[in-house]
Amino acid sequence: MSKWKEMSEGSKKRWEQNADFWDEKMGEHSNRFHREIIRPDTERLLSIKQNDRVLDIACGNGNFSKRLVEFGAHVTAFDYSYKMIENSKKRCSQYLDRINFRVVDATKYEEIIGLREFGPFDKAVSNMAIMDISDVEPLLIGVYELLKPNGILVFSTIHPCFQSPRMRQIVETEDMGDGICVRKGIQIFEYITPCVYEGIGISGQPVSQFYYHRPLNKLLKMCFDIGFVLNGFEEPVFELDETCSNFDWNEIPPVIIIRLLKTP
Ligand SMILES: C[S@@+](CC[C@H](N)C(=O)[O-])C[C@H]1O[C@@H](n2cnc3c(N)ncnc32)[C@H](O)[C@@H]1O
Repeated sequence: MSKWKEMSEGSKKRWEQNADFWDEKMGEHSNRFHREIIRPDTERLLSIKQNDRVLDIACGNGNFSKRLVEFGAHVTAFDYSYKMIENSKKRCSQYLDRINFRVVDATKYEEIIGLREFGPFDKAVSNMAIMDISDVEPLLIGVYELLKPNGILVFSTIHPCFQSPRMRQIVETEDMGDGICVRKGIQIFEYITPCVYEGIGISGQPVSQFYYHRPLNKLLKMCFDIGFVLNGFEEPVFELDETCSNFDWNEIPPVIIIRLLKTP
């Protein structure tokens, strides 16, 4: 078994262990990060129309799948964690006529392509999961095939330039004589080499998770080689809160949101 495949199995075990905790934390409406940073741009880039067929990739506890239905979509949603899918079905029990939940591993092309019975899809979306997937090429190839011509894939992922392995957040204060100056910044040590590292997504989660770091050039090249065209790009930040003394992501964007078009 290759090192990356082993990592994928390791990742999956950890997501099973974290599933109930994540379900509780994300609840019905997700957390502030998703509500303020991810959803507004994602929903605008997706622009769901009545009866759109949408694929929700690595859907977690399914709360966004439900939101897609509320916008009028028919949804197929998958995750490789059985527990996540079990929780999704419970959470969305009144929506199961509009959502097919499936256990599918995004690193396995055959499993992705097995979803064709629910397609072809107008749109696909993946919220904050690309960095958790050990090998994204099978997913991108599979999704490209499952989309209709002119179909789109919108995904968000941690910003590889500003959230790379061993990154440090810095908050400095300096007495300027006539007031205290606060500077907030990031120190980056590693960027260009893809790698795996461990981290905590939500403080208090039972076990750490693996992150798969890919520099922008590698991630985008993979998309372009498959045939996708980039036609949307966002770097959302939180609103400035002058009273906040922590590092607060209002000048440096914590994530990127990308829209890719399948050209006919
Ligand atoms: C950070 S959570 C995001 C969940 C959801 N999209 C949301 O926004 O709340 C990442 C999800 O990716 C899933 N995941 C990671 N690797 C995967 C893979 N190879 N195939 C399918 N799902 C995967 C995990 O099980 C987890 O539910």
